Amino acid sequence: MNKIKKILNKKNKSKIVCLTAYSKNFSEEIDKYVDIVLVGDSLGSVLYNYTTTRKVTLTEMINHSKSVKLGIKKSLMVVDMPYKTYDTKKSALKNARKVIKETKCDAVKLEGGKKVIDQIKILIKNKIPVMGHIGLLPQTVKGKFKSKGKTSKEINQLMNDALLLQKNGVFAIVLECVKTPIAKQITKKLTIPTIGIGSSVHCDGQVLVTDDLLGLNSSNIKFVKKFINLKKYINSGLKKFASEVRSKKYPTKKHSY
Ligand code: KIV
Repeated sequence: MNKIKKILNKKNKSKIVCLTAYSKNFSEEIDKYVDIVLVGDSLGSVLYNYTTTRKVTLTEMINHSKSVKLGIKKSLMVVDMPYKTYDTKKSALKNARKVIKETKCDAVKLEGGKKVIDQIKILIKNKIPVMGHIGLLPQTVKGKFKSKGKTSKEINQLMNDALLLQKNGVFAIVLECVKTPIAKQITKKLTIPTIGIGSSVHCDGQVLVTDDLLGLNSSNIKFVKKFINLKKYINSGLKKFASEVRSKKYPTKKHSY
């Protein structure tokens, strides 16, 4: 069965697991446990200390995605289209084709609903699978990150955008920081899966930034749960190495030519 059909088939049956990866060493391990590996433009803040994902370039996304691809055996690989690369139908198609061709990913993700529907339509018409992303949109947000779905205007917009994206053929939609009642309502109404991040257990799946759940980032975002403190283990290994080099315990004959 094709990878996208597999994701669609999970709706109302089993939860969809999605995590970010920015390089091969991570994607190789992540691939064993997830359904979708996302090369998110969150790599801008996680790897490069950018204050906004708007600074992420297409070249950065493509280079990291090429590395991620090397570690993937079974999961669906989705690549974020960075800011300003899908302003028009023409640029969206040109850049998405470049991403697909150079990274061999399975799909791309675009932020937005009605505002980017023409770009999404042209991609799907050209057989480029698209994942939607509504709610909090890091590429457009100005100032503080706030949850969405508090006012009736926001609720209507979220529902309308979700339905519009589905009607035009996206295979799944990320709901970022969407209030629980509307995330639940959208998930119930749609026939395609919703993937939540800070949007409650009612979504069909969940996505997180891998570095966050592993404790590699010092973020205190509400939706982040640290499943392990990987920094502790990394420090322990590094400390041992430094100590053995200084005490001449390493390298031994076994490690020398
Ligand atoms: O950029 C990213 O990593 C994302 C997810 C967190 C949804 O878009």
